[in-house]
Amino acid sequence: DWTMAAFREEAIEQIRKQVGDARVICGLSGGVDSSVAAVLIHEAIGEQLTCVFVDTGLMRAGEGEEVVRLFRDSYNIPLIHVEAEELFLGKLSGVDDPEKKRKIIGGLFIDVFEKEAGKIENAEFLAQGTLYPDVIESVSFDGGPSVTIKSHHNVGGLPERMNLKLVEPLRELFKDEVRALGRELGLPDHFVGRHPFPGPGLAIRIPGEVTKEKADILRKADAIYLDEIRKAGLYDAIWQAFAVLLPVRTVGVMGDERTYDHVLALRAVTSTDGMTADYYPFPHDFLGKCATRIINEVRGVNRVVYDVTSKPPGTIEWE
Ligand code: XMP
Repeated sequence: DWTMAAFREEAIEQIRKQVGDARVICGLSGGVDSSVAAVLIHEAIGEQLTCVFVDTGLMRAGEGEEVVRLFRDSYNIPLIHVEAEELFLGKLSGVDDPEKKRKIIGGLFIDVFEKEAGKIENAEFLAQGTLYPDVIESVSFDGGPSVTIKSHHNVGGLPERMNLKLVEPLRELFKDEVRALGRELGLPDHFVGRHPFPGPGLAIRIPGEVTKEKADILRKADAIYLDEIRKAGLYDAIWQAFAVLLPVRTVGVMGDERTYDHVLALRAVTSTDGMTADYYPFPHDFLGKCATRIINEVRGVNRVVYDVTSKPPGTIEWE
């Protein structure tokens, strides 16, 4: 892609000019945007970049490991991996209000990130994978420039608090352009093609209290659902697909035993920007196959339903 090749050259030039000899810290969320930003910046300034990845324990199956493998092993990018599952789940214990969950996760993320980043001497810049739609959104909401550590974490103010200047090489790009740039930089197709994932992660896909047990059940079921979607060749036709673990138990039968387990909702939507969305019209036999596999393979789920709500009036996520 010649446009992206040209963009890459120009962006590298600009990053070098902006940063000089200074050190840069980049917060990796595990998602596409921050990963592409990090790889681009690493190409520009090499070892002057350190990445910090905070593993909240609320990611999809295998994603934390994949980020670490990709950055440390494939790209040799210095990476601080903070395993913070216990911390996050501990603070979420007993909390069931969706906005409280978001606040707790956003606040903890900042605390952990700040502590780790504080250990990197002479850091002058904070890199973020802010995209053009994020810039517009933050301008229209609060009138100021984009200063969130990516809307991913729904928290602003970190650069000021840490006295860091921002590096945002993706500010002019849309999501599909970021994916093209990621491919141009050699990131694996399946990685750059990943569906968007919210900063609070699985916490907002577990209505009610979040526990490790529920997160593990949801991760397993979600992985089976996504596996079936990929096998059916439908992954790229869908904007986001995911499972939601409901705080409702229903009665079922398994062999000759009565079960009393969770209901799992499956969601899949098409969209171009997440602002409006239509539910994806899966064939019934596809849904039936997912339900059978999930109930057979995941202990703790005995009923599966499909969400046929579009946005508006629904939202994409359940919380
Ligand atoms: P809704 O549920 O509002 O979601 O229709 C629209 C898009 O935003 C994502 N989303 C979030 N992303 N932090 C994020 O970074 C959040 O708190 C959050 N809530 C929703 C959602 O996954 C969808 O892509």
